[in-house]
Amino acid sequence: MRETVHVPLGDRAYDVLIGTGLLTSAGDLIAPLLRRPRVAIITDETVAPLHLATLEKALDGAGITHSALTLPAGEATKSWGPLSQSVEWLLAEKIERNDAVIAFGGGVIGDLVGFAAAILRRGVRYIQIPTTLLAQVDSSVGGKTAINAPQGKNLIGAFHQPSLVLADVEALGTLTRRDFLAGYGEVMKYGLLGDAGFFEWLEANAPAMADGDVEKRIHAVKRSVQMKADIVARDETEQGDRALLNLGHTFCHALENATGYSDRLLHGEGVAIGCAMAADLSSRLGLSPQEDPSRVQAHLHEMGMRARLSDIPGDLPDAAALLELMGQDKKVIDGKLRFILMRGIGNAFVTSDVASEAVLDVIRDAA
Ligand code: GLY
Repeated sequence: MRETVHVPLGDRAYDVLIGTGLLTSAGDLIAPLLRRPRVAIITDETVAPLHLATLEKALDGAGITHSALTLPAGEATKSWGPLSQSVEWLLAEKIERNDAVIAFGGGVIGDLVGFAAAILRRGVRYIQIPTTLLAQVDSSVGGKTAINAPQGKNLIGAFHQPSLVLADVEALGTLTRRDFLAGYGEVMKYGLLGDAGFFEWLEANAPAMADGDVEKRIHAVKRSVQMKADIVARDETEQGDRALLNLGHTFCHALENATGYSDRLLHGEGVAIGCAMAADLSSRLGLSPQEDPSRVQAHLHEMGMRARLSDIPGDLPDAAALLELMGQDKKVIDGKLRFILMRGIGNAFVTSDVASEAVLDVIRDAA
């Protein structure tokens, strides 16, 4: 079972394949892109024992030689040390300008390897093989690559589009439920930001999808990627519409900062809570129907997900301190906080015109 979403970006256009059996046929799928049958794979210590042998066998089957670098798993890998290690390893492996690098893992590996590919020899091609739901529906598509700085997440990076994305939903079978549901926060985001019908579909089908239904997983990943591709095609470098993809993220980034980017709150969990808070803010401002916030809350509860600030273990700073943390978001323009709000579910827009008092009320009520 295989679906294709095309990302139409002129001479940087590429396909995202979504389905089953993509890992086992990765060699044949990648071969047409290569100028010589040689790739370098960068992965992490979680993914390598689970899936690297499968990928290597698929490459062998297509006569593609390969070598692999396995980095420690986790957010700390998105930093200068592993970046220079990756670039120097790629140079030692004699990866040339016309070769391709494979980013094999979740969002951390995708962002790091994409950035390494962007700067190696002033840019080499790379292929994303995302193994988490979050990476399949969001970070592997659209060409945002980055590492983190002490000043904040993703502050050092480049736009560099992949040449191919292989999203094999079978790889999602090895995720913990918590990691799957965190990725689901980004899936729900797409329904809320641009497709009320998809949100309705998720209300009916997401529980079965979380339980392992492969067809529903393919549908949800495909619809999410299609929406992302449409937005990226309109606004590749985030001058306008691409900011819609940050629905829930202004709240989320403050919460991640307040919890020290730790296991207390995964990024996708923060996105889900942030989306619920954005729905609340939209309704308070009279932009969306009063029932929308409770609908989002009810769906998160049904999914067994965190929906409120009080669902985050441990203490959080007070509302004023959280608002202050939002002000440090890199999406702040001219000192003004930018929010993605909704004129009803499925109809998001970007605004800087939100009174702090309304935001404080939302934070206090979510506690
Ligand atoms: N994850 C947001 C974006 O790709 O723009």
